[in-house]
Amino acid sequence: MGILLVLLFLSLATVNINEGCIDSERQALLMFKHDVTDGANRLSSWSLHNGHGDCCQWYGVVCDNVTAHVLELHLANPRPLLDDYGSDAENEAMERSKLRGKINHSLLKLTHLSYLNLSQNGFGGIPIPDFIGSIESLRHLDLSKAGFGGLVPNQLGNLSSLEYLNLRADIEDNLYVTDLQWLSGLSLIEHLDLSDVNLAQASNWLQVLNTLPFLKNLYLSGCQLPQIPPPIHLNLSSLAILDLSLNDIENSLGGSIFHGLVNMTSLRHLDLSNNLFNSSIPESLYSLDSLQFLNIGSNKFRGKLSSAIGNITSAIDLDFSDNELEGPIPITMGNLCNLKSIVFSELNLNQDVSTILAVLSRCVSNQLDKLHLSGCHLSGQLTNQLRNFRSLKELDLSRNSVSGPIPISIGELSSLRVLELDQNQLKGQLPSSIGKLTNLEILDISTNLLEGVVSETHIGNLPKLKVFQASKNSFVLRVSPDWIPPFELELLGLRSWNVGSMFPLWLLSQKHLWYLDISGSRISDSLPGWLWNFSSPFQYLNLSHNQIHGQIPGTPWAMSVDSVIDLSFNILSGPLPQISPNVVFLDMSNNNLSGSLSPLLCYKLEETMGTVILNLGGNVLSGGIPDCWLNWQNLQVIKLSNNRLNGSIPSSMGALQSIVSLHLRKNHLSGEIPLSLNNCTDLVLLDAGENELYGNIPQWIGDSLRKLVILSLRSNKFSGYIPDELCAIGSLQVLDLADNNLIGSIPRCVSKFRAMAKFNGSMGTAISYLIDAGTFLATIVMKGQMLEYSTNLNFGEKHRFV
Ligand SMILES: *[C@@H]1O[C@H](CO)[C@@H](O)[C@H](O)[C@H]1NC(C)=O
Ligand SMILES: *[C@@H]1O[C@H](CO)[C@@H](O)[C@H](O)[C@H]1NC(C)=O
Ligand SMILES: *[C@@H]1O[C@H](CO)[C@@H](O)[C@H](O)[C@H]1NC(C)=O
Ligand SMILES: *[C@@H]1O[C@H](CO)[C@@H](O)[C@H](O)[C@H]1NC(C)=O
Ligand SMILES: *[C@@H]1O[C@H](CO)[C@@H](O)[C@H](O)[C@H]1NC(C)=O
Ligand SMILES: *[C@@H]1O[C@H](CO)[C@@H](O)[C@H](O)[C@H]1NC(C)=O
Ligand SMILES: *[C@@H]1O[C@H](CO)[C@@H](O)[C@H](O)[C@H]1NC(C)=O
Ligand SMILES: *[C@@H]1O[C@H](CO)[C@@H](O)[C@H](O)[C@H]1NC(C)=O
Ligand SMILES: *[C@@H]1O[C@H](CO)[C@@H](O)[C@H](O)[C@H]1NC(C)=O
Ligand SMILES: *[C@@H]1O[C@H](CO)[C@@H](O)[C@H](O)[C@H]1NC(C)=O
Ligand SMILES: *[C@@H]1O[C@H](CO)[C@@H](O)[C@H](O)[C@H]1NC(C)=O
Ligand SMILES: *[C@@H]1O[C@H](CO)[C@@H](O)[C@H](O)[C@H]1NC(C)=O
Repeated sequence: MGILLVLLFLSLATVNINEGCIDSERQALLMFKHDVTDGANRLSSWSLHNGHGDCCQWYGVVCDNVTAHVLELHLANPRPLLDDYGSDAENEAMERSKLRGKINHSLLKLTHLSYLNLSQNGFGGIPIPDFIGSIESLRHLDLSKAGFGGLVPNQLGNLSSLEYLNLRADIEDNLYVTDLQWLSGLSLIEHLDLSDVNLAQASNWLQVLNTLPFLKNLYLSGCQLPQIPPPIHLNLSSLAILDLSLNDIENSLGGSIFHGLVNMTSLRHLDLSNNLFNSSIPESLYSLDSLQFLNIGSNKFRGKLSSAIGNITSAIDLDFSDNELEGPIPITMGNLCNLKSIVFSELNLNQDVSTILAVLSRCVSNQLDKLHLSGCHLSGQLTNQLRNFRSLKELDLSRNSVSGPIPISIGELSSLRVLELDQNQLKGQLPSSIGKLTNLEILDISTNLLEGVVSETHIGNLPKLKVFQASKNSFVLRVSPDWIPPFELELLGLRSWNVGSMFPLWLLSQKHLWYLDISGSRISDSLPGWLWNFSSPFQYLNLSHNQIHGQIPGTPWAMSVDSVIDLSFNILSGPLPQISPNVVFLDMSNNNLSGSLSPLLCYKLEETMGTVILNLGGNVLSGGIPDCWLNWQNLQVIKLSNNRLNGSIPSSMGALQSIVSLHLRKNHLSGEIPLSLNNCTDLVLLDAGENELYGNIPQWIGDSLRKLVILSLRSNKFSGYIPDELCAIGSLQVLDLADNNLIGSIPRCVSKFRAMAKFNGSMGTAISYLIDAGTFLATIVMKGQMLEYSTNLNFGEKHRFV
């Protein structure tokens, strides 16, 4: 009794003396703190000052109530993992609250540590410390996305008490293993996540996993799993979650997994998406009684959908999208009464949409959240069965051949957040019941045959709308001039609408708009200055094919990175504006812009322009081509055709090392073609026709521009012989040198070029071209007649010998 009391007293005294925690463990934690960088000062309570000495009270530390040993360290980044939509401020905060630096092996002193969580910190690519394998008391170890890189230490195999191990990596950290044998030491493991750890060298991975009797949750997404098919009987009968997505697994390996599925009777969650399976769907999948989540999307599964799909009665979430599977959706799918999500996009269902709605109306329609059937070759019409699907949050029927009207009953799907009906053959008016879908965030009805008035009744009560894409219909917009919409759009597409002659003023209220397409929408207003001072920078701005007049303000438009501006086919006048270096695509062609190229080309000489495509053709630009190309190294396409440019082609254009397509046709350019252009060895198209260029046709064209497909120097003042060197350009398909002062005979090889052969070698053929992302649309003017010659001159093939 007395001894017991003394012992009790002694142990209490120890606790008291050490202010609630064990001294050696406190020291260990302080050493740990000393070695990490703690940008957000998360470990400020880890200190001996101000009566903080009880380490059991420190941030993230959990001690045993009786023995005061440190049991748990919760040091994960407290900021939630953000996706790409996180604001800069949120991402910064996340970065700041990362622990960085080194991990002191003083942690070994925490002899009772059973839980260590360092997830989402930033250890900058250092290896996982070996000594962690010696903290034998560990049961939960979470080092996910903590910035560890390099070889995973085998020593982790000594953690024989481990039940939970998460090493999920970021691909850029290059975390890898050479062998997984050590895993067999984790005989109690239940939860194992090695996603994005490179297992390519671990040829025995499946055999090793097969020896872990308690394994329940297995995540091996993006592990570059080796393909050697292990001849193995899988007995992973406790598995509840199996994620093998993103591994390029082929059927050879998959076979043994599918075979083993028969025994995985507890499987609830199976993700095989983004692999290379190309067989039919194995029958073993349909016998999984407990399966709730099944994703086989983005593979090459083939064959008809089997009626056995109706056996997976516990299914909640099915994703079969993007495979080579064929329809129809079997009637038995109507038995799956627990379904909430069906993602079957990009399958060849080849079915009437109303049949599918009927099948699903059997028992599941009133609880389904998500129905994605985009690009499934669906036909027929949407019927009032739609009203059965009253829980739907997402309906995607885009890219099918659904016809007929949008039923009025669509207004009853009051939970809808996403409605995508674009690229179908829907006819008639937009029902005003759309206006009842007050939860709608994304509405895409573009590229249909819809018509009629769209007014505030339709869109005036959709406060959450972020995306309204309705381009390529015959809609007329009718809203009051002082309308202030309830929504804050990010994307707006009204291409080929009739929005009225005035620039829609309500756009001013849209503070987050970054995509605006109001091309071909019958605007005949002047370009409003407020577009320049718009609250958000645009990424895509298409105002083309209107009657917009007036000048473009000289100061550059604030644009976001990799942005696109299309102002073509308007009647804009005045000088060229400056543009932001962020613009990759700039089309101001076919306007009435005048003056010299300098304001645009020579502005901001100290900055490299991101512009890849520049089209200024079809204006009344004059003066010389300035010597300002050094900052435009990214240009691949330049069109200056149909202007009034004079002077010579400046040598500095030889600096355009990326140029693929150069159009100078129909100006008043004179002089010789500068030798520096022999630097532009990627040129595929060179059109300098209808100018006043002279001299010989340079022989270096044949020597250096070996990728040319189209070369036109027609209607100039070139003289001398056609150099034989042109024959060396194996890719040449169109050669037009007509209407010059050339003498001598046409080199033999020329008759073999495709265009020449096609038009009987006639040198009187005039050709003008447009290059659009690798596709040539060539208009051939022959014998005074215009022939639309719209063809893909295929770069890959050699058409030279017809
Ligand atoms: C310590 O005690 C608290 C309540 O006093 C209890 O909630 C907690 O679970 C105990 N922790 C341990 C590790 O025993
Ligand atoms: C580790 O912490 C993160 C972030 O709080 C949490 O999501 C994760 O579940 C934790 N891991 C374990 C094993 O508890
Ligand atoms: C651990 O921390 C102690 C005290 O700060 C230091 O002396 C020691 O070098 C550190 N150990 C490692 C491996 O960094
Ligand atoms: C396991 O720990 C022992 C010492 O306890 C050590 O000798 C051995 O190298 C470790 N094994 C592995 C695989 O880490
Ligand atoms: C799985 O079966 C193999 C033999 O086929 C056996 O060696 C292994 O121990 C079994 N694993 C479990 C978890 O039963
Ligand atoms: C299923 O498990 C049983 C018993 O462990 C085993 O005999 C059989 O080979 C397994 N089936 C497959 C396909 O692995
Ligand atoms: C499936 O892919 C393998 C290569 O992984 C190939 O050999 C086989 O021909 C493909 N099968 C079909 C039906 O395409
Ligand atoms: C589906 O269920 C039916 C009826 O229970 C059964 O006869 C059939 O074998 C099952 N098919 C598969 C592939 O499991
Ligand atoms: C702008 O819209 C027109 C049609 O109105 C289209 O032809 C053109 O390709 C669009 N421009 C860009 C850059 O997408
Ligand atoms: C943008 O706003 C500033 C200040 O409000 C004004 O000086 C400038 O002229 C505006 N720019 C355009 C193009 O309207
Ligand atoms: C083109 O601009 C000039 C002034 O630069 C103007 O006189 C002329 O009317 C404009 N043409 C058209 C069609 O707008
Ligand atoms: C041609 O290219 C070389 C290197 O690729 C470069 O040094 C030279 O300046 C270029 N010539 C011209 C005229 O830009």
